Amino acid sequence: VTDEPTVIILYGGTGDLAKRLVLPAFWELHTRGLLPKRWKLVGNGRGDVSHLDFQQHIYDALSEFATTPEPEAWKDFAPNVLFAGGGFTHDNPGSLLDVIQQAEDELGEDRRIIHYLAIPPSAFEKTTRAIKAHGLGPDAKAVYEKPFGTSLDSFHELDDLVHSVFDEEQVYRIDHFLGKEATQNLHLVRFSNRLFNDTWSREHLAQVQIDVPETLDIADRAGFYDETGAALDMLVTHLFQVAAQVAMEPPLSMAAEDLQDARESVIAAFRPLDPSEVVLGQYQSYRATEGVPDDSDTDTFVAARLWIDTDRWQGVPFLLRTGKMMPISAQRVSLIFKPSDGPVHSQGSNTNALIFDLKGNGAIEIQMTVKKPGPEPVPAESCSTLHLENVSEGSMTAYTSLIYDVFAGDRSLFTSSAGLEATFRAFAPLQADTRPAIQPYDDGSWGPAAADALTGDVGWLLGS
Ligand code: BG6
Repeated sequence: VTDEPTVIILYGGTGDLAKRLVLPAFWELHTRGLLPKRWKLVGNGRGDVSHLDFQQHIYDALSEFATTPEPEAWKDFAPNVLFAGGGFTHDNPGSLLDVIQQAEDELGEDRRIIHYLAIPPSAFEKTTRAIKAHGLGPDAKAVYEKPFGTSLDSFHELDDLVHSVFDEEQVYRIDHFLGKEATQNLHLVRFSNRLFNDTWSREHLAQVQIDVPETLDIADRAGFYDETGAALDMLVTHLFQVAAQVAMEPPLSMAAEDLQDARESVIAAFRPLDPSEVVLGQYQSYRATEGVPDDSDTDTFVAARLWIDTDRWQGVPFLLRTGKMMPISAQRVSLIFKPSDGPVHSQGSNTNALIFDLKGNGAIEIQMTVKKPGPEPVPAESCSTLHLENVSEGSMTAYTSLIYDVFAGDRSLFTSSAGLEATFRAFAPLQADTRPAIQPYDDGSWGPAAADALTGDVGWLLGS
């Protein structure tokens, strides 16, 4: 817990993201005693909302999306919550500067500001300019949601602007997949267990699958989604970052800079996607969604074969897949081993795989061949799941964990400028004339049939 008196300015304070994810995370930190010792949370938005109304708004949001606050804990929390209405632009600060002054009167001048931009990416630029114009950049930290840029060009524009206000060390770009317990577990399990570490390479692995099917549709966020699509919403962001987490070389240490360096170097080795190895899909009823144009060609499904040009991964494809309106919701990273040599091989061996489940606390599964009980030595496929119960107590949501890291000044699980630039470079072929045509798929299906071919003989572990 930091001693630094802290003012958190939550832009988009009454918005959807704040309500569902950010405010519940603050609350969780509060109940665990992990917020800074002295703090103020200032919501910002265009509306004219009183401090009391904003406190009530948070109470209601917590009751709906987390748990109804215990009266005692709430009594400690609520008085620290303020609201600054009237918007915030470079020529009109609304009431934000006055409210910061009010917070400062209570916390003292040595307060540290954290700007938390829980606003649509299209508003990042305007708010960043306003922060600059009103002199709120120096010594502050700034948290940006994803996607940070929507193409290589727009990434550069935004990144230049952000760097004209903040040094890279002040910037925390969120990709909440990096904050998931199970994603953090990936490299810990790998680097601390010889059983896994020694097999983590092309000598032993046939392919890696990162598979995130989702059953949900996009009904309540058509505006954002139709401009974004699955490839931008999920592939270039979450799936690429998880791929980097799997594929990185051992970092020099577990320190933030070393982890970031390791992730950056491996992303720099992502070969630009080959459009002939990418399948884009759209679920059948998508265009009937309110707010989606009749002729929209936005992708709601993407499957891609990614190659990573490092010595460790030559010839090992990373198969990435995600989509809306699919038969199940899952988030799985599967390392699929090559068939083993030797006498059993000739009888046809089953898939041998090490699977990390990224949902919740994360389970680890091992799919392997064992002997079928009986008189003959018949191989059979079996699976063992490690639920990690003994270590799951105390686990935090991805947002809680990442926001805690912002307070603690630990940037190891945030994306870096150089890393993001490299992701957009690898992604660029999907944004040019070379973008593959969208293929329709049935609602509740596994996506266009063409996606199955990407995995070769192995098949997708889920759904096949
Ligand atoms: C978000 C995407 O970043 O991640 C959503 O915008 C997606 O489209 C979500 O559904 C999935 O993440 P999680 O961890 O909340 O299931």
